[in-house]
Amino acid sequence: GSLEPGWADEVRALARRRDAVLLAHNYQLPEIQDVADHTGDSLALSRIAAESDASTIVFCGVHFMAETAKILSPDKTVLIPDAAAGCSLADSITVDQLRDWKAEHPGAVVVSYVNTTAAVKSETDICCTSSNAVEVVASIPAEKEVLFLPDQFLGAHVRRVLGRENMHVWAGECHVHAGINGATLTAKAQANPDAELFVHPECGCATSALYLAGTGAVPADRVKILSTGGMLDAARSSKAKSVLVATEVGMLHQLRRAAPEIDFRAVNDRASCRYMKMITPEKLLRALREGRDEVHVDPELAARGRAAVQRMIEIGQ
Ligand code: 13P
Ligand code: SF4
Repeated sequence: GSLEPGWADEVRALARRRDAVLLAHNYQLPEIQDVADHTGDSLALSRIAAESDASTIVFCGVHFMAETAKILSPDKTVLIPDAAAGCSLADSITVDQLRDWKAEHPGAVVVSYVNTTAAVKSETDICCTSSNAVEVVASIPAEKEVLFLPDQFLGAHVRRVLGRENMHVWAGECHVHAGINGATLTAKAQANPDAELFVHPECGCATSALYLAGTGAVPADRVKILSTGGMLDAARSSKAKSVLVATEVGMLHQLRRAAPEIDFRAVNDRASCRYMKMITPEKLLRALREGRDEVHVDPELAARGRAAVQRMIEIGQ
């Protein structure tokens, strides 16, 4: 149905009544970001979820994010406005595939991106997000083999930054970021020679961004590989007049709020995550009125994944 004008006030009143904190990822619809108590990247939101004393967490994001909150806080009620909000990246490796891969590399340390299922986390040594992936891998003794999964572009970025040879990378990808490719980025960068480039490391173009910088086609100090939270910090301190943004388009909303004087433009304005956009004001209201969809994680799986997620929120503080 159509939305009542006072819907945001109703959301806040219902949240208070349920003793709920509302968290929204930077890729959510602008109106969801604006009604939330906290908006942030996946690492910041995991930390807030772990520290919050609210008895209910309403996670406006995708399913693995809500699952991660539940793993960290098994005694809290965790709600997601639509449990069907999945993630193509999390779907790119199953727990059976991970077990087979581990069997091929006995003794290797498993680093999983937070974009994974609870089952995959239960077979993981340390989780990471795009904001602390480099620090997480750097914390592993140099002689240890590393299995990094599931994102090939983030993995390639970490391997390049650390120059680490004994790191194997799974060939997964996020369909939204993989579609932001090098050709588009090169054309946009050349058409806007003064713009800075903010590039999420999940992008298919992350390699091209560094190539451009390396050839001098774009000055190296104009190219920044950043998580969504890192983009906001960079925007606040940037002196640029315009910035080209290579990530999911929801990010533009927080960037424009953080630095209204900068002209932010998407490298690919069709880079929209249909899963993130499944969380609508109507479904958020329904979640708060009806207490759904509640997120459950098998307690045994959660117990096995908890240490890996806890190490993630501790590294890179
Ligand atoms: P970050 O917010 O950690 O940069 O994550 C990006 C992402 O694709 C989450 O789905
Ligand atoms: Fe998953 Fe990609 Fe959507 Fe993020 S943008 S939730 S990685 S499908």
